[in-house]
Amino acid sequence: MGSRVRFGIVGTGGIANAHAVGLAAMPDDAEIVSVADIDMGRARAFADRWHAHRAFESAREMLDAGGIDVVCVCTPHPLHADPVILAAERGIHAVVEKPLTAALSDADRVLEAQAKHGTILSSMSQRRWFPAAQRIRRAIDDGKLGDKVVMGESYCEMWRNEAYYRRDAWRGRWDTEGGGVMMNQSPHNIDFLLWYAGPAVEIFGYWANVNHPYVEIEDNAVAVIRFKSGGLGIIKGTVSMDPARRIHGVSIVGSSGATTSLDCWEIPPERRACVTGPSDVGSNDIWTIPGEVGLTVDDAIGEGTLGLPNFHAHQLRDVIGAIRERREPAVTGLDGYRVVAIIQGIYESTRTGRPVALTI
Ligand SMILES: NC(=O)c1ccc[n+]([C@@H]2O[C@H](COP(=O)([O-])OP(=O)(O)OC[C@H]3O[C@@H](n4cnc5c(N)ncnc54)[C@H](O)[C@@H]3O)[C@@H](O)[C@H]2O)c1
Repeated sequence: MGSRVRFGIVGTGGIANAHAVGLAAMPDDAEIVSVADIDMGRARAFADRWHAHRAFESAREMLDAGGIDVVCVCTPHPLHADPVILAAERGIHAVVEKPLTAALSDADRVLEAQAKHGTILSSMSQRRWFPAAQRIRRAIDDGKLGDKVVMGESYCEMWRNEAYYRRDAWRGRWDTEGGGVMMNQSPHNIDFLLWYAGPAVEIFGYWANVNHPYVEIEDNAVAVIRFKSGGLGIIKGTVSMDPARRIHGVSIVGSSGATTSLDCWEIPPERRACVTGPSDVGSNDIWTIPGEVGLTVDDAIGEGTLGLPNFHAHQLRDVIGAIRERREPAVTGLDGYRVVAIIQGIYESTRTGRPVALTI
C-alpha cells in the first residue's frame, strides 16, 4: 500500500458527499480513486466534483478494476451487504453507512466474509466523535458512573413528511428501505446506547405506522431491553413529532446513581458546527457526576468538529489508522451487527408477541 490509503465510494448520492468531504480534508493520508453508482451520470458528476480518477456503473466493476484499499458503501441499506462481501473477497476493507445492513442474515454474511478474508470493517457511527458523546464514554471508562450502567434510554424525536419519502424511490418500503424510524433514523441512537451500556441479551418492542399512511414502514416504535450487565434500557423512535425535538439522544444512569445525557436538539442553521446534518453537535444537558457540569450546546459548538470538517472525517481517519496499525477500528462490524439485531428484534417481537433473545 502506498503512503495514501486509496478509497472507492459506492453509491454517490447524499451521504457520499460527507465521506468525500472527510477524505478531501486528509490529502496526505487519503485519496478518492474511484466511484460507482447505478446512475452513471451521478457517478461521473461525483467523480468530477471530488477529482476521482474513475467512475463505474457497479460496485463489482469498480472492485474488479482494483487499485483501491477501502470501499465506502453509501447505497440504500438493503444494498449494503453485497459490495462489502465482494470487497472482502478481494482483500479490500470497508466502511459501511448505517445501518450495517437491513436484514440480519445479510449482517451475518458480512461478518463471515470479513472474518474469512481478514479485512477491516467499520460500521458508520460518526456521531460517536461528538465532544459530548466522547465525554460520556470517558466518564464510564474512568468509573465515574460506577461499575456498570443500570439504565439507558435512547430516543429519536423527529418529523418526516411526505416529500421526504417521495424524494428517493427506495424510501418508505419494506423491501427497499428495510424499515422506518428504527432502521433509518435510529441506528445512531441505538449505537450510542450499546456503546455505553454494552451488549443486550433480550428485547421486546412494538412498531406502528400512525400518521404516515403514504408509506408501508413504521413511523413510531418503542422497545425495552435487558443488557448483559443486568441493566435495563428503553428505546423510542418517532418521525411523527412536528417540529422535531431531540433528533438524537441517549441518557445513561450508572450504578453510582450519576446520570449523563447526550442531547441533539434541533439547532438553527447559523449555529451548526458540521456540514453533514441538521444539528450535528450534541450537548450533555444532564450531567450529575459530583463536582462536574454538563457540556452546553455553546461549548460543544465551540469545540466544533475538532479540527476536521465533519464527524465522518474522524471515523474515516480512525479507519486509516486501523489499516496502518493493523488494529480494530473504533466502530466495528460487530457494533453494526448488534444495532441491526436490536432493530430486527423489535420487528420480530411485534410479529410474534414474544421477547427476542440476542446472542452476540
Ligand atoms: N451517517 C449518516 O448520518 C447518514 C445520513 C444519511 C444517510 N445515511 C445512510 O447512507 C445510505 C444512503 O443514503 P442517502 O441518503 O445518501 O441515499 P441517496 O438515495 O441520496 O443515495 C444512494 C445512492 O446509491 C445509488 N445506488 C442505488 N443502488 C445502487 C447499487 N446497486 N450500486 C451502486 N449505487 C447504487 C443511488 O443511485 C444513489 O445515488 C443509507 O444507508 C442511509 O441510511 C447515513
